[in-house]
Amino acid sequence: MSADEEKKMKTQPRVKIGVVALCFLLLMIWFSTPLWAACPQPRNTKQAPRELYNRVNPLKPTIENILEGKGLFEEKAKPLACKNCHGTSGDGKGMMAVGLTPPPRNFTCAQTINGVPDGQLFWIIKNGSPGTGMPSFKNHLNDTQVWQLIHYVRKLAQTRIARIQ
Ligand code: HEC
Repeated sequence: MSADEEKKMKTQPRVKIGVVALCFLLLMIWFSTPLWAACPQPRNTKQAPRELYNRVNPLKPTIENILEGKGLFEEKAKPLACKNCHGTSGDGKGMMAVGLTPPPRNFTCAQTINGVPDGQLFWIIKNGSPGTGMPSFKNHLNDTQVWQLIHYVRKLAQTRIARIQ
C-alpha cells in the first residue's frame, strides 16, 4: 500500500465522524428551537366581540392552573389535543400543521401572541376560527379549562422569549 493510500484510510473515519456529528448538531437545532417558525407571524384572525375581547383571565396563573392547561394542550383536550397542530413546544409546527393555511398560531412568538388579549384567545378556543383549521372546543371544554389553557399558552411565549429577539 502506498503512503498516500494509507493516509486516506486513516482520515476517512474522521470524516465520517465529522459528518455524523454535523447531522446530530443540525437535528438538535431543529428540535430545540422554532428556527423555521415564522416570527412575527402574519395574523388575520377575526376579532372577538368587544365585551369579550377585553376580558382578562379570571384565574390566577398558579402552578395548578398552568399544569392543568398543559395537560389539556398536550393530551386531554377533545376531540383533538392542541399539540397536534400547535406543536408540543407551541411553535405551530405540530404533526397536523402541514398543509394548513393559515398555519397554526406560533405561541412561542412573543411579538405576535403577547399583543393578543386573553378574551380574544378565549373566544377563538371556544368558537374556532372559521375558514381555518382551528376547530371549536365549545362542546368539549368548560370556561375554566379554556382559561387554564390560556395561562399555559402564555407560558410558552415566556419560555422562548430570549430566543426570538
Ligand atoms: C386541527 C388543528 C388545530 C388544533 C387541534 C388546534 N388548533 Fe388552534 N389554531 C389552528 C390554526 C390553523 C390557527 C390559525 C387560525 C387563524 O389564523 O385565524 C389556530 C389559532 C389558534 C389561536 C389564535 C387565536 C388568535 O386570535 O390569534 C389560539 C389561541 C388557538 N389556536 C388555541 C388552540 C388551543 C388551546 C387548542 C387546543 C384546545 C387548539 N388551538 C387546537 C389549528 C388548530
